[in-house]
Amino acid sequence: MRLYVNIDHVATVREARGTDEPDPVRAAVLVELAGADGITVHLREDRRHVQDRDVRLLAETCRTALNLEIAAEPEMIRIATELRPMQVTLVPERRDEVTTEGGLDLGGEARLERLRRAIDPLADAGIRVSLFVDPDREALEASAALGVPAIELHTGEYANARSSEAKEREVDRLREAAELGSTLGLSVHAGHGLTYENVLPVARIAPIEELNIGHSIVSRAVFAGLEGAVRDMLELLRGARGRGPNSE
Ligand code: PXP
Repeated sequence: MRLYVNIDHVATVREARGTDEPDPVRAAVLVELAGADGITVHLREDRRHVQDRDVRLLAETCRTALNLEIAAEPEMIRIATELRPMQVTLVPERRDEVTTEGGLDLGGEARLERLRRAIDPLADAGIRVSLFVDPDREALEASAALGVPAIELHTGEYANARSSEAKEREVDRLREAAELGSTLGLSVHAGHGLTYENVLPVARIAPIEELNIGHSIVSRAVFAGLEGAVRDMLELLRGARGRGPNSE
């Protein structure tokens, strides 16, 4: 099981101030040192968190693997084919959504043709293409027909399920989809909304090879690091008194 860590929300904190910290490129180094198998970032059309500069530097400096999430839009395909991350995951994108809300809609020839126009140049550039899809038979069969090597199952509905019955139903749905994906020759990834509390039933689904987890890991990092950050500031402030010419 590979863990790819999505570091978008390190960039979210930076963008909240429009400054240069925290830098997601520096975060990626720590994520890799901790043993993650890859780094994931979503370059959104509105650039609300990750910026072009981040992707360019990550493409140059990632020692593991860079998984770039993008919409199947010409601008994004141009950026990806230029920077050549190891993997591109095509995701649906709506400007007014807080986060990705579901898998790609693979119904209808027009949508499939639009995806083909995105997949072909990426594959020609040697990039591994994965499609973010709902855990449904039609989506998996359509993905296999498009000839991509991998899919990422959307785990959002599982993550949002409240009752234990609903959770079990969603785990069964993910398991069936993962098994079908594997039978169709697809590498099966999964992600969205996975947390320290809900990840294990998904991690136990054998055909799933890769998990993409972001918000929960970045959230824990805030708490895991907060005490030390406060101590560092207190130490600095205490050192300021009694040392310099203006000390009291
Ligand atoms: N997979 C995909 C396709 C996503 O769009 C996202 C969110 O950017 C994730 C995984 C990670 O989701 P979360 O931040 O909820 O762990």
